[in-house]
Amino acid sequence: MANDQAITDHTITMEKITSLAKRRGFVFQSSEIYGGQNGAWDYGPLGIELKNRIARNWWKEMTQMHDEIVGLDAAILMHPRVWEASGHVENFTDPLVDCRNCKARFRADQIPFENIESKTCPECGGELTDVRTFNLMFKTNIGPVETEEEKNVIYLRPETAQGIYINYKNIIQSNRMKLPFGIAQIGKAFRNEIVTKNFIFRTCEFEQMEMQYFVKPGTDEQWFDEWRKRRWAYYEKLGVKMDNLRWHQHGPGELAHYAKDAYDIEYLFPMGWKELEGVHNRSQYDLTRHTEYSGKDLQYIDQEDGNKRYIPFIIETSAGLTRTLLMLLCDAYDEEKVSAKDAGETEGSAEDWRTVLRFHPNIAPITAAVLPLVKKDGLAELAQEIRAELREDFATDYDQSGAIGRRYRRQDEAGTPFCVTVDYDTKEDGTVTVRFRDSMEQVRVPRAELVSRLRQEIKAYKRTK
Ligand code: GAP
Repeated sequence: MANDQAITDHTITMEKITSLAKRRGFVFQSSEIYGGQNGAWDYGPLGIELKNRIARNWWKEMTQMHDEIVGLDAAILMHPRVWEASGHVENFTDPLVDCRNCKARFRADQIPFENIESKTCPECGGELTDVRTFNLMFKTNIGPVETEEEKNVIYLRPETAQGIYINYKNIIQSNRMKLPFGIAQIGKAFRNEIVTKNFIFRTCEFEQMEMQYFVKPGTDEQWFDEWRKRRWAYYEKLGVKMDNLRWHQHGPGELAHYAKDAYDIEYLFPMGWKELEGVHNRSQYDLTRHTEYSGKDLQYIDQEDGNKRYIPFIIETSAGLTRTLLMLLCDAYDEEKVSAKDAGETEGSAEDWRTVLRFHPNIAPITAAVLPLVKKDGLAELAQEIRAELREDFATDYDQSGAIGRRYRRQDEAGTPFCVTVDYDTKEDGTVTVRFRDSMEQVRVPRAELVSRLRQEIKAYKRTK
C-alpha cells in the first residue's frame, strides 16, 4: 500500500478528519502535553496557511469586490457597557444541566425534553440537576487589582459585530460613507461553551468573519434577501459541494434577542446538518440600544432624502472562520481507489487507495510542490531553481525524499493541486511535468510558461469530483 495505513472503511468520519488534521499539521489540540485544554486548538503550518487563505478569500469577496464595503479591526476588549447595551449580559445564556452520577454536562436545549422533565441523564440514567442559565461571556478584571467591583469588569468579546456598531459613526465621518454601506471584520471571539465536542466545530476561542450592512429602513427585507443570495453564491465560487448546503430559517423560539429574521446556511458535516454561517436581519436593535446606553446620537443624516434622520437597519452576515476551515476539510476530504496504471503512482499492487483533499487552488495551503524525480545528476539543484522561480507567485513546497508515488500521495493529503516534477528531460529540453491532484493527469509544460500556466489553471479550476 502506498498509504501508511490500510484504509478499509471509506466513510468520512470526524475521527478521520481529526487524525489527518493532526498528522499533516493542520490542527493540534491546545496544551496537548498537559493533557489538552478543552475548547482550544492550535493551527499548525498547513492549518495557518489554510486559515489565512480562507480569511483572504472572504476579505476579497466582501471588500475588494464592493465599492461600498470597508474594513475594520476593532479591539477585542471593549467598554463593559457595550455588552449591556448589546443585550449580551442579560440574554447571552445557555441552559445547563449536570448529571449528579456520571458528572456529564449538557445544554438543556440539546437533550430530549423527556430527560429534562424526568430529570434523567441521557447517558447513564442518573439524576439531573435543575436547569440553570449560564452566561457564555468570559468575564475578567482589568487593572492590577483583582476585584469584583463592576468598574474593573471586562469581557472577552463573544462576537466581533459590536466593535463595528460602536465605530459606525467614525467610519461614516472618516470615509464619507452613504447608505447602503457595509463594514467587514475578521477576528477572534470567545464563548464559554458548555459542550465542545466535534473537533473545532464549537470551541471557546474561535474566529469570525462578519460583515454588517447598514440600510435605509424599509429596504431591509430586500437587502436581507440579496445578502442571502450573495452568501450562497460565495460557497459555490469556493467549489463547495452544494448538495451539502441548505438553508434553515430560525423559528420564533430560535431567534437571537437582536434578530427580526435569521437564516443559517447549514452544512452536512459527518455528525449531521449544522450551522456554518448566519445571515441576520438585526433591525435597528443594536444602534438603538447603543444610542440609549452611550447617550450619543447614532442617527444617520440622509442628505439624499432632505436631511432626514433615522437609525439604519442592519443586515449581518456572520461566518465562523475556524468553522469554515472544518467545513472545507470535510468537504475536500476524499478517499479514492486508484489503479496501477495511474501513472506508475502505485507501488506494485494492482490497486490502491489514496486520501486526497480537493481544496480549491485559491485556498489550498500549498499551491505547487516541486519534486525532482531523483536527487542525483543535478536534478535536485534544478528543481530548487524552479521552485525559486515559482515562490514569488505561489505558496510552494519542495520534496525530494522517497519514491515519486509516495511524494504525490503526501501532496494529495495536504491538498496541493499541482505537483511540478523535474526529470532528465527537463535538463534536455527545459520542460517539466505538471501533475494535477484531482485527475492525476500529467502534462509537459515549458519551464518559461510554468507561472502563467498555473495561473490559468487556478482561474479555470472547476471541481469535478
Ligand atoms: N454576530 C452574530 C453571531 O455571532 P452566531 O450565530 O452566534 O451569530 C455566527 O455566530 C457564526 O460564528 C456561526 O455560524 C459559527 O460559524 C461561528 N461560531 C459561533 N460560535 C462558535 C463557536 N463556539 N465555535 C466556533 N464557531 C462558532
